[in-house]
Amino acid sequence: MEKFVINGGGRLDGKVRVESAKNAVLPMLAGAILTSEDVVIKNCPKIRDVLVMIKILKSLGVKVKFETNDLIVNASGINGYIIPSDLCGELRSSVFLLGALLSRVKRAEMAFPGGCKIGERPIDIHIVALKYLGVDFFDISTKIVCSVKTLKGAKVCLAYPSVGATENLLLSSVLANGTTVIKNCAKEPEVKDLCSFLRSMGAKIFGEGTDTITVEGVKRLHGTVYTPIGDRIEAGTYFIATLINGGMVEISNCFPQNLLPLIDKFCYNTCKINTFNDIILITSKNKVKGFTVTTAPHPAFPTDLQAQVCALACVASGCSVITETVFENRFLHLPEMIRMGADAVFDGKRAVFNGVKSLHGANVFAKDLRGGAGLVLAGLGAEGKTVVNDAMHVNRGYYKLAEKLTSLGADIKLVRDRNTKECYEE
Ligand code: UD1
Repeated sequence: MEKFVINGGGRLDGKVRVESAKNAVLPMLAGAILTSEDVVIKNCPKIRDVLVMIKILKSLGVKVKFETNDLIVNASGINGYIIPSDLCGELRSSVFLLGALLSRVKRAEMAFPGGCKIGERPIDIHIVALKYLGVDFFDISTKIVCSVKTLKGAKVCLAYPSVGATENLLLSSVLANGTTVIKNCAKEPEVKDLCSFLRSMGAKIFGEGTDTITVEGVKRLHGTVYTPIGDRIEAGTYFIATLINGGMVEISNCFPQNLLPLIDKFCYNTCKINTFNDIILITSKNKVKGFTVTTAPHPAFPTDLQAQVCALACVASGCSVITETVFENRFLHLPEMIRMGADAVFDGKRAVFNGVKSLHGANVFAKDLRGGAGLVLAGLGAEGKTVVNDAMHVNRGYYKLAEKLTSLGADIKLVRDRNTKECYEE
């Protein structure tokens, strides 16, 4: 068991550097099996999701090793196509291996992917899209069993701009015969970064960041040395923490344009935001005024920062309204925040807050990754001691969160019982 123990209050001041983006690195790890040559992912974060993905790759005969912070993947000896069920269940991103395995070994077998329980999270859009490329599915009831003779380029219009389905389609089309056109694709910065990564391996991809991506299949891909983009969600988490506690924090390794939905939302509120190159400097003295946020696919407000802005709404002055449109069960953190004194009501889609002067510390439980991060921020801003139990959810996506916040002046530590391994250990 792991938990965060937080003594709330106090300003945050200093500098913090974010890791490479979890949601960029995970599909890249799947993409690394598309060549027999070495793929080096620079500054790869040693977070739990990455470590589980590494275990999956190793189970398929792929060699993976860390050299300090760089991850080296060599899939020349890949000899499997079945992803172990227990590992699939731990990680939503195991689904990316569907497209990558179909490209590389023409078949795949896996249990339904796990991940945060923030909604149904079906993979129907992935399956329909892969069928367009010629993939035969033999079972999609209890597990996914599929194969393909030859992947053939096709025109595919996604029913929803799903991040995962777009990435799966990219991974399955880069080595296909002919051209694939993906309409209504996701435009998230991590999708763009996956395109850049695949291009650095020799793929021909155009149009990422717009509604339509075109992929011209190539015969082979080669190795690469690639530095993924910084994690905008990690950056956004420190940004919102500074709004809650006040202070002056410089966040580096994150391009401000990838955080525009957050910056635009608060730049006319009470804080001051300066940006240059890959740095965001945020200065916050006064309480944020009540605000509205509606999550939606990029370039709208990211659902992965919804729980963190809920923590902010709890202590904003006045009324705030937060609407979640991406996942149908993503307010799992709210009952916990209410136990900390939040004045909030919510249904499945919308939460309405009357900001309180301050939250008070409590014993709360993280139910999912970003919800857990939201509770950490609530605890940082609260009076007294907060314990955020089940911190393993948070450690799936944040590297050394407690240490980084401590370096900004927060009083927070990660406590684990004797039987729990350090999550950064392989
Ligand atoms: C990715 C991110 C996650 C983020 C989410 C939305 C990774 C590893 N995870 O998740 O952090 O919160 O994007 O920005 O990159 N849907 C279907 N059928 C499908 C696929 C999706 O109905 O086949 C629905 C989902 O249930 C959800 C919505 O579409 O309601 C968005 O899902 P999607 O964009 O696919 O998110 P993920 O790729 O799972």
